[in-house]
Amino acid sequence: MVQATVFLLVLSLALGAHSLSPKKCNLIGHWVNDLGSNMTISAVNGDGVFSGSYLTAVTVTTNEIKVSPLQGSLQRKNRKGQPTFGFTVNWSYSDSITVFTGQCFVDKDGKETLKTMWLLRSRMDNLENDWKATRVGTNIFTRVQSQKE
Ligand code: BTN
Repeated sequence: MVQATVFLLVLSLALGAHSLSPKKCNLIGHWVNDLGSNMTISAVNGDGVFSGSYLTAVTVTTNEIKVSPLQGSLQRKNRKGQPTFGFTVNWSYSDSITVFTGQCFVDKDGKETLKTMWLLRSRMDNLENDWKATRVGTNIFTRVQSQKE
């Protein structure tokens, strides 16, 4: 009887501790942002280096939008969860480059949100136009749930 009580106590403590520990953010998967752009992060290696693809919903060009590659880096020193990261999108259909920096937040229900800021550098024909070459903004990404989840 005493053994059973101790076992149940240990079990409930273990389960309680588990439910208290914040869900870790996993960048791998499909994400959509507030503009309707879609991003897929396909792999993150042991050093935090990751790659994927980006389909923007908007463009500053008149070109046809195409899927573009992204490469990034996830900060791995922090083991407390909610990591910071950065990535670059090298637009395949324009002369521009965008760099994003952000952090993954996980709420009490385990929902992940990527809060980001970006700089979009457009190519200018000459130095005189450099002043208008860089746009800045923010994007919020949420995970696109797959059918299996
Ligand atoms: C271009 O128009 O030359 C490239 C596309 C830029 C799209 C920008 S990047 C920041 C912002 N977030 C998005 O999802 N799309 C726009």
